[in-house]
Amino acid sequence: MMEGKMSKTILYIAASLDGYIAGPDDDISWLSPYQGIEYGYEEFLAKIGAVIKGRRTYDIEVRNGWENAFSIPQFVLSKNKPELPRPGVTFTNEDIAQVLQKIKQITDKDIWIEGGANVARQFINRGLLDEIILTIVPVILGDGIRLFDNIHKRRNLLLTDVMRFDKGLVQLIYSVG
Ligand SMILES: NC(=O)c1ccc[n+]([C@@H]2O[C@H](COP(=O)([O-])OP(=O)(O)OC[C@H]3O[C@@H](n4cnc5c(N)ncnc54)[C@H](OP(=O)(O)O)[C@@H]3O)[C@@H](O)[C@H]2O)c1
Repeated sequence: MMEGKMSKTILYIAASLDGYIAGPDDDISWLSPYQGIEYGYEEFLAKIGAVIKGRRTYDIEVRNGWENAFSIPQFVLSKNKPELPRPGVTFTNEDIAQVLQKIKQITDKDIWIEGGANVARQFINRGLLDEIILTIVPVILGDGIRLFDNIHKRRNLLLTDVMRFDKGLVQLIYSVG
């Protein structure tokens, strides 16, 4: 029998030390000084077969002209239709468990849960997340969009790795119990 590799759902995201993924008014300018830093993004991306993100995150990427940064299929959760259809981008309003099932039929690579907080929360609350790769940026924002808000129950985590990169970036890798 063929050995089937189980694809993992991974929340791969950057946050401030005080747990924000964006400052007020979707401010992500605090991430800019870290653009050029080698922190394993390419290696991570090589293991990914699809990306799931919320419509707000997608819209911001489009607004910034980053929508072509992804060569892997993107699934955008939204109750709305895209203003402009783009190749490789699927808008979906299906239940997230259903979305995962469909993606697993097209890839056995890992699935990147890109965010934002709204989407991350749903995967955590539904018990659909296997791993968290959290890059902590050395800044305290004080206000903005909290990564872990409205989590319904305690989740025990197992720390599987810790890495330190240039300019004080720290990456924590947890498997979700
Ligand atoms: N620091 C980082 O690494 C990082 C990573 C990602 C994002 N961000 C930032 O996070 C912010 C966005 O996060 P957010 O939490 O506000 O929004 P989000 O999670 O990106 O998007 C939320 C939207 O997605 C749609 N949606 C979510 N779940 C759905 C579901 N189950 N079914 C159908 N539609 C669903 C809804 O849009 P509709 O109204 O269209 O239905 C909802 O308003 C931005 O500032 C972005 O730049 C930061």
